[in-house]
Amino acid sequence: MNDKARVTLIGAGPGDPELITVKAVNALAEADIVLFDSLINIELLNYAVKAIKINVGKRKGYQPYSQDTINELIVENAFKYGHVVRLKGGDPFIFGRGSEELDYVNNFEIPFTIIPGISSSLAVPANVGIPLTKRGIAASFWVITGCTSKKEISEDIKIAAQSTATLVILMGMHKLKEIISVLLENDLGNKPVAIIQNGTTTNEKTGVGTVNNIMAIVTLKKLASPAIIVIGDVVKERHRLKEFCENISYKHLLPA
Ligand SMILES: C[S@@+](CC[C@H](N)C(=O)[O-])C[C@H]1O[C@@H](n2cnc3c(N)ncnc32)[C@H](O)[C@@H]1O
Repeated sequence: MNDKARVTLIGAGPGDPELITVKAVNALAEADIVLFDSLINIELLNYAVKAIKINVGKRKGYQPYSQDTINELIVENAFKYGHVVRLKGGDPFIFGRGSEELDYVNNFEIPFTIIPGISSSLAVPANVGIPLTKRGIAASFWVITGCTSKKEISEDIKIAAQSTATLVILMGMHKLKEIISVLLENDLGNKPVAIIQNGTTTNEKTGVGTVNNIMAIVTLKKLASPAIIVIGDVVKERHRLKEFCENISYKHLLPA
């Protein structure tokens, strides 16, 4: 039993290795063991200089570790090695099951810290110049799972489709046809849609169209998971902003 047992739940950000917090980097440097998910950028593990590193994430649709096993691994390794970092893509509390893991850790009275991450739901659209809200265009946005724990399309998509909100759908690629049907039932065939795969990484791919033609664009561009689906008039704003961003370099503001 290790009396230094503790757990730090960290959000690794959306994929670009520079989009992680300083606090997360400092915690990784102190980790004895890192249990990481597949969506994190592997370069981030370099910060965990003294840690054992184990990939507990899903690989090519195959999930070698069940959620129960991951929960147990966190606790067992905290008692065995001390400081466990649980490193998850984006923010650990946005469809990340981070809260469930901490519930389990809490049963063993192991102290824990939460370090939020930049969620892909916000960063991936922003990186291609899509503002999720804009005065006069969208007063709110909904971040919705495309696929619930029952493997069904979320009822919230139906409700959100009846509002003026921007819809940001995660884990929705396998349900895209059903999502489109819901939108068409609400007479939203001309609504702009953007699909961004591997956002903020060097493999980023984007397809833009409308509800009516997005399926054809997905096929043409071979878009697949992991991807974010953004539905709303804000998608039309992206050109101007992207062009503007590309003309600015922030590099000179970073430490050498
Ligand atoms: C289990 S959820 C985890 C979300 C994560 N906790 C977050 O805050 O970004 C996984 C889904 O997030 C989305 N996702 C995560 N990273 C992404 C990226 N770099 N590009 C596009 N979609 C991404 C995809 O919809 C993917 O299926």
